Amino acid sequence: MAASCIPEFLLYSGSQCSNGGALMSRNMRHHWLLLGACGWMLLILMFASKFINYRSADDYGENSNAHSWTEPGTKVVKSTPISIQDRATSKPSDLPSVLPSVADWQNVVEKRIELLSSVCKNDSLRNLTHVSISKFVLDRIFVCDKHKILFCQTPKVGNTQWKKVLIVLNGVFPTVEEIPENLVHDHEKNGLPRLSSLTLSEITERLKTYFKFLIVRDPFERLISAFKDKFVKNPRFEPWYKHDIAPAIIRKYRKSHRDDNNDDASSGMRFEDFVRYLGDWEGRRRMDRQFGEHVIHWVTYAELCAPCQIGYNVVGHHETLEQDAPHILRAAGIDGLVSYPAIPPGITHYNRTKVEHYFTGISRRDIGRLYACYRGDFHLFGYPAPNFLFN
Ligand SMILES: *[C@@H]1O[C@H](CO)[C@@H](O)[C@H](O)[C@H]1NC(C)=O
Ligand SMILES: *[C@@H]1O[C@H](CO)[C@@H](O)[C@H](O)[C@H]1NC(C)=O
Ligand SMILES: *[C@@H]1O[C@H](CO)[C@@H](O)[C@H](O)[C@H]1NC(C)=O
Repeated sequence: MAASCIPEFLLYSGSQCSNGGALMSRNMRHHWLLLGACGWMLLILMFASKFINYRSADDYGENSNAHSWTEPGTKVVKSTPISIQDRATSKPSDLPSVLPSVADWQNVVEKRIELLSSVCKNDSLRNLTHVSISKFVLDRIFVCDKHKILFCQTPKVGNTQWKKVLIVLNGVFPTVEEIPENLVHDHEKNGLPRLSSLTLSEITERLKTYFKFLIVRDPFERLISAFKDKFVKNPRFEPWYKHDIAPAIIRKYRKSHRDDNNDDASSGMRFEDFVRYLGDWEGRRRMDRQFGEHVIHWVTYAELCAPCQIGYNVVGHHETLEQDAPHILRAAGIDGLVSYPAIPPGITHYNRTKVEHYFTGISRRDIGRLYACYRGDFHLFGYPAPNFLFN
């Protein structure tokens, strides 16, 4: 135990330093991390012993409403808005859907947590589901002390909106509209600290007592979204994706460089290259360390949020955000104080046609390798395996 936890903290803090930013404070934090690492692990053990992971060396790596939530291999059958409606009203499911009641949704959300903890106990998925609570994970979790809430950030599921909600709750800005866009992600100034900025005992206390939640979406659709957002459109102009990360991936994973007519590989990462990189669980680790925090857009949810180690109270699904957002506000006891910003119609729906389109022309072997790496996320959060891609 004592021997295994220190090298891991070294590994994590070292691996996240490459992309500028809070280097100074990282080094300072590093100091207490080293001192407190083992004692802290023991404390974590005390309250999370049933989920705790004793392994540590190899952890890093990281919608439709009519969507089927039945998970082969587990007994838990996921409810959907449609099935609730069926039960409640006996109407055919192609009629306009009726919003489920608060009690029905509570039931859906409890089933998700039951599924999560049963999958966490499945040893055959252990290497994909168990992640230690490293600094990388603590960096993902935002703290609202005023209302005792922890929120693990998972990109591409409306997280900016949640962060705005929590910034307002922390009291630095009076309304969501008044938060300047450039401050939403500036955690030194926006009054929304990361869990990693606190001391060991503060972290332990909050993990133990606060309301904790995260939002997830279909794992493959999420990867498509990350690919589009970072390597195709890149709307916020983050040049490192196209200029540094894409060429590195192409160099290592493109099958044949001969059919590149132009040498400017930076503008041309294909989804196929991305899939081959993501499916190379062992081989990509060294690259991922060089990519630093940017990997948050594609490493697994398990790696981002350690859902088998941290007892989250609610897992929201992007596909049902219309129901999940109000539920989370209610469950966190803040529904009277804030509301989640309006969700544009249609944007949260799972689009199987889009998934099929992106995977067209990619070999089954590559898709299989990708699925093998993201299987943990599919199982943990009750998303059906994308068998249609293999037929
Ligand atoms: C564990 O996961 C595997 C692989 O997905 C699955 O086949 C198996 O049924 C699961 N075991 C239990 C006990 O749920
Ligand atoms: C689903 O994706 C396809 C292909 O990207 C697109 O043409 C279609 O409009 C999308 N459907 C919906 C309902 O958004
Ligand atoms: C996880 O472990 C299983 C054996 O339990 C192995 O077959 C599989 O390749 C491992 N997956 C990854 C992504 O390392």
